[in-house]
Amino acid sequence: MLIAQLSDSHVTLPEEDFAKLYDPVTKLREAARHVNNSVNRPDLVFLTGDLVNTARAEEYEILREILPEFEMPVYLLPGNHDDCTLLRKMFPDHDYLQKDGKLYYVVEGWPLKFICLDTNIHGKPQGHLGQEQLDWLEEELSRESDRPVVIFMHHPPFKTGLTSMDAMGLLDMAEFAEVISRHDHIERVLCGHLHRAIQRLVGGTIVQTCPSTSHQVRLLLGENNELSTTFEPPEYLLHYWTEKDGLVTHNDYVQDFEVAWTLEGELY
Ligand SMILES: [Fe+2]
Ligand SMILES: [Fe+2]
Repeated sequence: MLIAQLSDSHVTLPEEDFAKLYDPVTKLREAARHVNNSVNRPDLVFLTGDLVNTARAEEYEILREILPEFEMPVYLLPGNHDDCTLLRKMFPDHDYLQKDGKLYYVVEGWPLKFICLDTNIHGKPQGHLGQEQLDWLEEELSRESDRPVVIFMHHPPFKTGLTSMDAMGLLDMAEFAEVISRHDHIERVLCGHLHRAIQRLVGGTIVQTCPSTSHQVRLLLGENNELSTTFEPPEYLLHYWTEKDGLVTHNDYVQDFEVAWTLEGELY
């Protein structure tokens, strides 16, 4: 199966300066068209947070209009730019979103079990899972130890070296690492927030962050704590799962590229 992960769409109103700079709505529409028509068409899509830019109902209205353009099921996760109360109110048909409290849930019905976590702290850029959610995660991971699991969450549970973004990191990353280190059936932890593709091993599992469909964060490592964005091209992640070979993660661009050359005949 193929799972597309799109992240940090930061949808906003057309009159905003932010929209004039990045045009996130057009870019999310292009991403929908791209995954629908891709030769590697995904079975389902996860949007890993920062769905909208300033957590207003009008922005979620625009997102509501765009989502049906995806021809496969789409699951929503909150990021730090989202408002969980508004999110559940504006998407009542997404009945996997809990009515109260944090928006964590499980997606069943596939060879992999998908666990989606909520790292949102209302009004703050940092992320937090909290003991209740970590206890729930422990319970879910213990339930079927022979079935592979993929965890989605907005804030990654590691320091990336991008100092400005690390200042907006997950506050309880050590507690999360402790939970996942007790389980060896987690295929991957998949995150957003960084607007770049970054990997690290955490608690024995590969954690991967996803680029944005809108704009990327400039690669500035170490002491430099400036936060800049770039017009590096919109990207997303495509996670390819087979029973035989497990989960393999690929980057794909939203832009279509021409095929340059194809070998005719037998390769081997
Ligand atoms: Fe973001
Ligand atoms: Fe974020």
